[in-house]
Amino acid sequence: MRHRSPRQGKRVRSFLNDWLGRVYPGDCLRFIACLPDNSIDLVLCDPPYGLDRGNDDPARKPARTVRGRKGLAPRRIAGDSYMEWSANLPLWMTSFMRILKPGACCCCCCGGGGPHPVFAEMALVMDETIGFKQAVVWDKVHMGLGWHYRRTYDIVMIGQKRGAPSKWYGDRRERNLIRIPRVIPRSDQHPTPKPAELMQHFIRLHSRPGHVVFDPFLGGGTTAVVAEAMGRRWLGCEIDPRFVAMAEERISRARALRLDAER
Ligand SMILES: C[S@@+](CC[C@H](N)C(=O)[O-])C[C@H]1O[C@@H](n2cnc3c(N)ncnc32)[C@H](O)[C@@H]1O
Repeated sequence: MRHRSPRQGKRVRSFLNDWLGRVYPGDCLRFIACLPDNSIDLVLCDPPYGLDRGNDDPARKPARTVRGRKGLAPRRIAGDSYMEWSANLPLWMTSFMRILKPGACCCCCCGGGGPHPVFAEMALVMDETIGFKQAVVWDKVHMGLGWHYRRTYDIVMIGQKRGAPSKWYGDRRERNLIRIPRVIPRSDQHPTPKPAELMQHFIRLHSRPGHVVFDPFLGGGTTAVVAEAMGRRWLGCEIDPRFVAMAEERISRARALRLDAER
C-alpha cells in the first residue's frame, strides 16, 4: 500500500480551505503543522526582525519628538528579540519548505544592515532548508534611526523550493533592487507596516490569480488586503490579538470598498 503522509489527507486539505481568506489568531508554527505538504504557491512574509528595536517605529522615539503623542508606550513586536528570532528561524524555514509547492518561492523580509548580521544568518538558513535564490534590496527612500550608516534599506530574501522549475511570472529584466518609500505608521496602526506596493511587487512576480499566498506574520493585514485586490486566495496568521483585530478590520474595509466598486 502507498504510504500517505499524515499531512496529505482530506482533513488537512479541508483545514486549508476552512482558513482561506481568514486570519488565524495564533502562532504560525501551530497553524502550519495543520497544512498539507506542497500546497502553497507563495509564502510572502515579514517576520519580526530579531533586532529588538521596534523597527524605527516613530511612536518609540522620546515623547518630545512625536508631536502631540506624549507618553506613548513602546509598541513591541512579539518574538523580536535576537535570541527568539535565531531559535525560530530554522523552524520557520523548514516548515515553509514543507508546505511550498516544488519550484514555488518564499519571499521573506529581513533587516538590511547592522548591528547584527541577521541578513547573513537568514540567507544561510534559507539555503540549508528551502534553497536560496536571491536577495532583493528594498530601498526605503527615507532614512531610519541611528547615527552611523543610517538605515535606508531592508533585504527581501527569496528562497525557492527545489524539485521543479521556478514559478516565475515576471519578465526577464526584473532587477534585484526596488525603490518604494517606507510607510510611517500612525499610532493607531501597526508599528511596522510594509507598503502595499512592496507586497504587490512580489505577489505579481511569484503568483497568478487564484494561487494561494500565505503570510504567517500578517501584522496589520497588508499582504491579505493586497492579495485580495490582486485576485489571489490567501492564508494569514497573527499572534498578537491587537493586530488580529486591526488586520480583520482592514480586510473587511477593503472588501466593502471592492463590493461598492463592483456595484
Ligand atoms: C513585522 S510585523 C508584520 C507587519 C506586516 N507586514 C504589516 O504590513 O502590517 C511581524 C508580525 O508578526 C507577528 N508575530 C510574531 N511572532 C509570530 C508567530 N510566531 N506567529 C504569528 N505571528 C507572529 C507579530 O505580532 C507582528 O505583528
